[in-house]
Amino acid sequence: MDRRTFMNRAAVAAAATFTADMTLSQRAEAFEGVMIDGLARHIERPFLCEPDEPRSMAPPGSNTPGGAPTSKFMAGMDDPRLPRVPERPTLLDFFRHRMANPAHLLQSANLAMQQGMDDKVILACLLHDISVEAFIRMDHGFYAAQLIAPYVDEEVAWAVQKHQALRFFADESVGYDYPASYRAWFGDDYEVEPWVRAEYEEARNHRWYMTSRLITINDLYAFDPNVTDLSIDQFEDVVGRNFRQPREGLGFDGSSVAHMWRTMIWPHSFL
Ligand SMILES: [Fe+2]
Ligand SMILES: [Fe+2]
Repeated sequence: MDRRTFMNRAAVAAAATFTADMTLSQRAEAFEGVMIDGLARHIERPFLCEPDEPRSMAPPGSNTPGGAPTSKFMAGMDDPRLPRVPERPTLLDFFRHRMANPAHLLQSANLAMQQGMDDKVILACLLHDISVEAFIRMDHGFYAAQLIAPYVDEEVAWAVQKHQALRFFADESVGYDYPASYRAWFGDDYEVEPWVRAEYEEARNHRWYMTSRLITINDLYAFDPNVTDLSIDQFEDVVGRNFRQPREGLGFDGSSVAHMWRTMIWPHSFL
């Protein structure tokens, strides 16, 4: 279909949805919506290295090996299926638009807040699993720490990284037991990898140990399906005081982790 035909058809389809009280910009938006729906876009799924998956030499979206793709790729553009992220996105925008379920993070930070813990702990709880919720699950403590490191106190990023290992080790002095859920998930005979133990031992003897340990304590009880009334708005002040939001927006400040935030904005970008 040529461009003119495509535009004409989109205009007709959009006009059919117009109502008398719609403003010009509402009509323009409806028109744009129809055009986006009509585009033949090949939308990649978020891609991770999966060496056990057979890999074709054919370009995605192509039926013929070595042949041209039959549709355009999504690349650095909004996926019409996802909520639009503002041009200069803030941390709160990622909570609002890129997390399918931020409840665990909100509950965890809420527990810290209710117990009167300081800002650093509340923020660390709020961000400790941000990678699981919006980026990548594997090694989530490390990815989360990297994501936030340019914008938070060093202690917060450190605590977030170390919580990944600390969760596997009890600390009776603060009433933290090995999680029962881990026995079910990994088996009674599960033993952590040596590098996880090394992470733990380093953290155990560190001056910021308790900050990370407090994440694990608030983590353990933060999976309550009945607590549904929490909102990121509750933490706006804590974030405002302790997260150095870049003026250009997360993903566009030229920092060493900007690409990770961009990946969250455009998870289906082809390259
Ligand atoms: Fe975690
Ligand atoms: Fe967690």
